[in-house]
Amino acid sequence: MALLEKFAAAAAIREQLQAGGHDPTQVVIERIISPTEGLVEGRHTILAGTNNYLGLTFDPACVEAGRNAIREQGTGTTGSRMANGSFAAHTALEQELADFYQVPYGMVFSTGYAANLGTLTALLKKGDAVLLDADAHASLYDGCQMSGADIFRFRHNDLVSLEKRLQRLGERAQNCLIITEGLYSVMGDCAPLVEIVKLKQQYGALLLVDEAHSLGVYGDHGCGVAEAQGVMDQVDFFVGTFSKSLGAMGGFCVSPHAELELIRYVSRPFIFTASSSPSIIASTHEALRQLKARPELRETLWRNARRLYEGFKAHGFEVGPELSPVVAVRLSGKELALSFWNRLLENGVYTNLMIPPASPDQHSYIRCSVSAAHTEQQVERIIEVFVGANLFANATTVFRE
Ligand SMILES: Cc1ncc(COP(=O)(O)O)c(C=O)c1O
Repeated sequence: MALLEKFAAAAAIREQLQAGGHDPTQVVIERIISPTEGLVEGRHTILAGTNNYLGLTFDPACVEAGRNAIREQGTGTTGSRMANGSFAAHTALEQELADFYQVPYGMVFSTGYAANLGTLTALLKKGDAVLLDADAHASLYDGCQMSGADIFRFRHNDLVSLEKRLQRLGERAQNCLIITEGLYSVMGDCAPLVEIVKLKQQYGALLLVDEAHSLGVYGDHGCGVAEAQGVMDQVDFFVGTFSKSLGAMGGFCVSPHAELELIRYVSRPFIFTASSSPSIIASTHEALRQLKARPELRETLWRNARRLYEGFKAHGFEVGPELSPVVAVRLSGKELALSFWNRLLENGVYTNLMIPPASPDQHSYIRCSVSAAHTEQQVERIIEVFVGANLFANATTVFRE
């Protein structure tokens, strides 16, 4: 039974998480009422941690597109594209995404996680060097690790640290891949892509940018942070997900390099898994259309984000370094964060808890992600509940002392 003994560590984590009342990893939303509201333990709860940036999950046109696809193409593809063939809608979406990023090549994967695994395991092999931002998402790290390449992590968004590693690589720098995200999802800060592109050019490296959280949020057309910073034509590979602004599930990689087409032949996370169901592809297609056609969604999103960010700051909360739709509040200590998160939930606000070792540094955070679908009243209520939880936390700390 030694095999099962390793679960003692997981049991200890569960015990710790349950000590605060509710286990943050096991929240059940009994009924989804809207993109920003659900029923939790019978309570109307504002969903403030969904990544549903544009609030499109209930958009009538997206829902209708999904429905029609089920009716016309069935509930699933029942296999991988390599073995069972591609539905026309999958290839059409690939073209649409490539056009959106103004590059010739595009590939769709079954999840954002698979997009990163699939791209990186095909792109890198043992002996290659990859420079990875220290705060990069687990899927980026896992993809690099699975590839067998040598991984060198540079300090988060730190150009000095990145350049040092490029210098140390010597001639290998010309054959290495730099990986960053656009918007980072923990603190809500953006990568300095202009400067990263300069380094990439100087050392002859390639650059992959994960725009998972920035698609639909940044740039005049909503392509992401590279568009907002004017360096789209310098990015070698864009990856992203359908599970945030596009309100569905799936992932993509687009690129100016023709080699992307060859990834289909060698990428195990692409070959050995079923392709996305027709309803997902159809609703994603429609969501992308909405993203392009309705810039006002982005405007509302940013208005809500500004209100929440400024509101937290005005009440003395320690928030991330820059305004974005990811608004994280830093709290001192795991226990406080856990009880704070519980208090928020009990008062009808669902957020994301990030505590070590899951947080990027040794601090604990409560993260909100703002949606264009949040009403002004919901944003005000989130602030109010945070202030109440803070008063409660301060009072109980004093009481404990
Ligand atoms: C930066 C980044 N990349 C990739 C993913 C994976 O996407 P998905 O959850 O759609 O598989 C995420 C998910 O949160 C992410 O934050």
